Amino acid sequence: MSETNRIFMEAVDCQQRLTIARPATGFSLQGRIRVPGDKSISHRSLMLGALASGETVIQGLLLGEDPRSTAACFRALGAEISELNTELVRVRGIGLGQLLEPADVLNAGNSGTTLRLMLGILASHPDRFFTVTGDDSLRSRPMSRVVKPLQQMGAEIWGRQHGALAPLAIQGRSLKATHYHSPIASAQVKSCILLAGLMTEGITTVTEPALSRDHSERMLKAFGADVRVDPETCSASVVGSAQLVGQAVVVPGDISSAAFWLVAGAIVPGSDLTIENVGINPTRTGVLDVLAMMGADVTQENVREVAGEPVADLRVRAGAPLRGCTIAGDLIPRLIDEIPVLAVAATFATGTTTVRDAEELRVKESDRITVMATQLNQMGAKVTELPDGLEITGGTALTGQAVDSFTDHRIGMSLAIAALNATGTTTIHRAEAAAISYPEFVDTLQRVCQE
Ligand code: S3P
Repeated sequence: MSETNRIFMEAVDCQQRLTIARPATGFSLQGRIRVPGDKSISHRSLMLGALASGETVIQGLLLGEDPRSTAACFRALGAEISELNTELVRVRGIGLGQLLEPADVLNAGNSGTTLRLMLGILASHPDRFFTVTGDDSLRSRPMSRVVKPLQQMGAEIWGRQHGALAPLAIQGRSLKATHYHSPIASAQVKSCILLAGLMTEGITTVTEPALSRDHSERMLKAFGADVRVDPETCSASVVGSAQLVGQAVVVPGDISSAAFWLVAGAIVPGSDLTIENVGINPTRTGVLDVLAMMGADVTQENVREVAGEPVADLRVRAGAPLRGCTIAGDLIPRLIDEIPVLAVAATFATGTTTVRDAEELRVKESDRITVMATQLNQMGAKVTELPDGLEITGGTALTGQAVDSFTDHRIGMSLAIAALNATGTTTIHRAEAAAISYPEFVDTLQRVCQE
């Protein structure tokens, strides 16, 4: 579709606007594509590489803005990290407990994972003082969920609203091991506390109300930490005073990025798309379960294990219209980042789709409940906001409109997928946000859309 220039980005007032003009007929998504490296695994490989002794080599790192923020922070803390690329990134670790006191503020940009995981590491490094901040969005996101449990372990952290909001100041010190019962299923909270536990004598345990993504547990084990998990009770523990040794990490494709193509392939008639090399860790595959419930034709091919994470090629073929369903309960942490694009799928499904138990969406990079409801309704969808989710009545025809990402990467990309099935032309303002997790999104979109 690129030759006919139906999909293009242009600069408007220092921002980028994405235009998608869908042809009236004869258009579908075809081909074999790859998505960039998993964002969660990319962050963790840089962080653990920085904390380990010796060298860590990372293949397939995500080159998005968020991992770049992590790399910049850990360089400032003393780790040597080679130029970021997808081929091979080398991290010369500084060793657990050896981080330097940086001369300036550490800036996590837009990345909640960078800031929250790093807080556990910094708070448990005695005798150093750190200050951390982020962009407008991150400075408005709740930090008490990690600050409070760290303070219970003895951490000294200060910030606006009693440490609830960045910028934060941290006086590192030796902490006390804890068993923290988290009120939310959040891998960022769990990982922050486990990382603080690495340097803390005794056993540090986190129990969550439902199982969140387990990449930290897997990677900590691979780097040599004594990590114990009990999926029955949704608990994970780390034995303190650990030694981490540099490893070879292979980052699989991000299922959160693959989700855009899975939904696009399922809703645009005639599509047949294969997304190669996607991580299918069971704590992340809620999107596959929901698409199966909705009747989408998604198959897993070439299932294999790569460097401790399960991987597959995912093939999606458009078929009968999708069916509405209920997305709630323990499923939510397994697909939290995919709800915006699943909301798009639901607008094209028959019947009603209800999302509940997802109040976390209100404190992501934007309030994803309000933003998805307003932007999809602007295009003619029937979406009602619920306090903890969305109610979507499917089957209304969407028309192209001017919509806005609200500088939230997943919102911008989800609206682009909605545009593929809307009549006329859609313009997405602040579409540059995609670079947070998927810098090649528009290129791939141009490549797979065929007339
Ligand atoms: C992430 C955990 C999730 C997810 C985020 C990445 C991680 O956040 O939304 O994009 O890498 O640990 P929560 O743990 O806050 O739900």
